[in-house]
Amino acid sequence: MSRPTLLLSSFIALVIATATPPPELYSPLITSKIRTVAQGESNPATYPQYTDSTVGKWQYFQPDIWTSSFFPAMLYALNTRAKLCGTGDGDTWVELGRQWSTGVIPLETKNDVGHDVGFLSMPFVEEYYLNPTNQTATTAIQAFVADLDARFSPVVGCTRSWDTSDSDNFEVIIDNMMNLELFFVGETLTGNHAYRQHAISHADKTMQNHVRADGSSFHLVTYNATNGNVIFQGTAEGYADNSTWSRGQAWGLYGFANMFLHTHDPNYLMTARRMANYFIQNIPSGGVMPWDFNAPLEPARPADSSAATIGATGLLLLAEMEMSLSPANTSGRDFWTNAAVQILADTTSFAWRPEFQSLLSNGTVNNRASPPNNSTGIIYGDYYYVRAGNELIGLELANCSLGLTQ
Ligand SMILES: *[C@@H]1O[C@H](CO)[C@@H](O)[C@H](O)[C@H]1NC(C)=O
Ligand SMILES: *[C@@H]1O[C@H](CO)[C@@H](O)[C@H](O)[C@H]1NC(C)=O
Ligand SMILES: *[C@@H]1O[C@H](CO)[C@@H](O)[C@H](O)[C@H]1NC(C)=O
Ligand SMILES: *[C@@H]1O[C@H](CO)[C@@H](O)[C@H](O)[C@H]1NC(C)=O
Ligand SMILES: *[C@@H]1O[C@H](CO)[C@@H](O)[C@H](O)[C@H]1NC(C)=O
Ligand SMILES: *[C@@H]1O[C@H](CO)[C@@H](O)[C@H](O)[C@H]1NC(C)=O
Ligand SMILES: *[C@@H]1O[C@H](CO)[C@@H](O)[C@H](O)[C@H]1NC(C)=O
Ligand SMILES: *[C@@H]1O[C@H](CO)[C@@H](O)[C@H](O)[C@H]1NC(C)=O
Repeated sequence: MSRPTLLLSSFIALVIATATPPPELYSPLITSKIRTVAQGESNPATYPQYTDSTVGKWQYFQPDIWTSSFFPAMLYALNTRAKLCGTGDGDTWVELGRQWSTGVIPLETKNDVGHDVGFLSMPFVEEYYLNPTNQTATTAIQAFVADLDARFSPVVGCTRSWDTSDSDNFEVIIDNMMNLELFFVGETLTGNHAYRQHAISHADKTMQNHVRADGSSFHLVTYNATNGNVIFQGTAEGYADNSTWSRGQAWGLYGFANMFLHTHDPNYLMTARRMANYFIQNIPSGGVMPWDFNAPLEPARPADSSAATIGATGLLLLAEMEMSLSPANTSGRDFWTNAAVQILADTTSFAWRPEFQSLLSNGTVNNRASPPNNSTGIIYGDYYYVRAGNELIGLELANCSLGLTQ
């Protein structure tokens, strides 16, 4: 049996190897759309989260939700792109990024968001990397990481995700793998090594209890806050308790690759690879990312372009981790980069919408909501589309002039 399997996998690798980056990833529409939204408001009080389904107009929300910082972080990502492309307009993007960060600042001391401070802190972390002496940014990061750390339970070994009415139920979602980055930034900034230990503990527990033997994942695990026992493994946003919500799988593969970046613990690399393999192997032929890998085909299941762009960015990070090994794993890098490029090309072909304010459509915010929220542009889908484009340039798999060829 092993021989046909090998032939099959090399055949898949060969097919994937033909993927080329879509020119839309570098389209002038990206900067023009985002600039228009950014310049439309000089003192932002609300933030774009998702669009309507028909004309693609951004819907704005109060800053006290988990998605507020994606738009300012995307403005900083366009500064990175300006540097990569030598366009000389980086400072303008930084100015806009700073302007759009201000509405998020009060959240560091008073927020109802709870655990999602990793996402909220992103533009301040970008600012800190550009200008380490900016006190507004460093103060915000320190407050956000203290918020996250206050949610860590030594009994459970994790940071708490959602606050529940029954505080004995300690809920942890796979998404929280993304917040662990903040612990590492916080450690660098403050020298508090407990932050690193808490990130490691949370990741180890998630590896044990969220990731299944086949590399798929539960969205939600509930622990008993009193004794740390697992009392539930299932979902809140996915199709079913035993299904795999595609966006959760994407957060997980990215989060474990990032844990390897910071710790070099091979268990995290193995886990990232397993989750990445499941992710790639469960995309249907045709390349449309479903909102849940196990949602029934009928009635037509909505896509989730955001799961695709988050997953692709995570695969590119995983590719970089393969190259950080000694000796560098070039075949591993090629495998993950080809998969990422294929996902970006497929997603562009079904979700790229010049007429929308967002870059992409066909995102699913929450298909369990009533009514379900599907078929929209989503701010984090766009953010990771820009980030993936930047990473491909860094990996020398694309260049900025590609966008002029469409
Ligand atoms: C410092 O960072 C904050 C928040 O990121 C930003 O709003 C502010 O403009 C920055 N200040 C300077 C002087 O760059
Ligand atoms: C949680 O653990 C405590 C202490 O062992 C126990 O009394 C309680 O019944 C447990 N709760 C659940 C929901 O398992
Ligand atoms: C989940 O459980 C249902 C009911 O037992 C079963 O029909 C389905 O195949 C399971 N799905 C997966 C992905 O295991
Ligand atoms: C290189 O990466 C691939 C994909 O992750 C993996 O299957 C393979 O074992 C890796 N090789 C080495 C020598 O680490
Ligand atoms: C993408 O969204 C459009 C418009 O809402 C819809 O007609 C189309 O079927 C969707 N495509 C996929 C692949 O789900
Ligand atoms: C997608 O959302 C629409 C509008 O809320 C809803 O009517 C539809 O049932 C959803 N699609 C699926 C397959 O759940
Ligand atoms: C889903 O969309 C409706 C409007 O159609 C909105 O009221 C609701 O808050 C949205 N749910 C989520 C989780 O964003
Ligand atoms: C940049 O991309 C274009 C279009 O794919 C290609 O023709 C050109 O050779 C590339 N330039 C460099 C320097 O890689």
